[in-house]
Amino acid sequence: MNILLTGGAGYIGSHTYVALVEAGFTPVILDNFSNSHPAVLQRLQAITGQAVVCERGDVLDTPWVEAVLRRHDIAGVLHFAGDKAVGESVAQPLKYYRNNIGGAVSLLEAMQAAGCRTLVFSSSATVYGDPASVPITEGFARQHTNPYGHTKLVIEDMLAALGVADPSWRLGVLRYFNPVGAHPSGQIGEDPSGIPNNLMPYVAQVAVGKRPHLNVYGNDYATPDGTGVRDYIHVQDLSAGHVAALQALVAAGGQSFTVNLGTGRGHSVLEVVCAFEEASGRPVPYQFAPRRPGDVAQCYADPALAQSLLGWRATHTLADMCADAWRWQQGNPEGYGD
Ligand code: NAD
Ligand code: UD1
Repeated sequence: MNILLTGGAGYIGSHTYVALVEAGFTPVILDNFSNSHPAVLQRLQAITGQAVVCERGDVLDTPWVEAVLRRHDIAGVLHFAGDKAVGESVAQPLKYYRNNIGGAVSLLEAMQAAGCRTLVFSSSATVYGDPASVPITEGFARQHTNPYGHTKLVIEDMLAALGVADPSWRLGVLRYFNPVGAHPSGQIGEDPSGIPNNLMPYVAQVAVGKRPHLNVYGNDYATPDGTGVRDYIHVQDLSAGHVAALQALVAAGGQSFTVNLGTGRGHSVLEVVCAFEEASGRPVPYQFAPRRPGDVAQCYADPALAQSLLGWRATHTLADMCADAWRWQQGNPEGYGD
């Protein structure tokens, strides 16, 4: 079964590509490489032992996306393509509304025209804003605190409206918590451009000596050690979640759903630092710094719905996440660029 991965050359898409091949699907990548490197394609070929099919272009180009869907006889789409930097979305909101919302509209129109109505969408725990309590279930109120988060909310609503208008659509919305780690081969991983915004890649760059120390944003939160608590999920578990989601949608009588993909466990910033030191055998010096605007104290999932609906649950530990992130960082200090 041929599956299109928009944004398939990116961090989560590339890992999911491998999981799809292992599960017997035939993935096709669509990417404009605005936030990824073509070198990932050779790495995917080396890991899977199969030629990689990639269509280079923009998801905003509706007629071209429709032609791609038809050319490859695509049965379902995993929609990863989009921009994801929260700070940038505050500075350049129109870029986010155009690429994320415009991209989703363009893709859905192309799918409708090509007669393909099975979609898995990359949403985010950011749709819960500052949650009233933890763990977070899918029924919690949704809020947004920045344009990036707003685009995820709007796309979720758009998909819901589409499902009402035409119940033949099969729509899987996956709300990721904090994806980290890398493929255990060390061949593919997260390759942020410039200074990483997210914790794990920053810690990895400190451990490898690229940055002198980590700034820990806030040590006065109402958490056990005062630092922020998040639900870090290994990108391999996340990839397996996409395979499970797709299998559920394409099964006879498959129904639309929205689920959290998280582990159900929260770890503090200092726990991540300790686990990374352990995994790497390197020190990770840190300094406490003021809270980062927009950050919440705690955010972790109740993943029970994904388990009951999809038969999926995360199995990797924080130690696994750090070991795999470190293997990738050490083997590729300049990411795909070297
Ligand atoms: P990424 O930037 O590594 O991958 C996105 C890919 O989409 C890149 O390869 C980029 O070149 C491509 N792309 C962007 N705009 C495009 C366009 N108009 N046409 C074609 N290709 C385009 O990001 P990621 O971490 O793999 O995230 C994938 C998805 O998951 C995104 O939608 C993101 O918002 C969502 N998400 C990510 C996280 C996370 O922490 N990484 C958390 C929650 C949700
Ligand atoms: C951030 C985004 C969120 C997005 C998610 C995944 C913000 C406000 N939120 O979430 O919308 O869905 O990434 O891409 O940007 N930390 C440090 N020092 C650092 C970096 C982070 O102490 O240099 C702390 C943070 O304060 C937080 C934790 O580490 O407590 C995790 O941060 P991060 O990896 O950026 O993820 P989120 O804030 O959960």
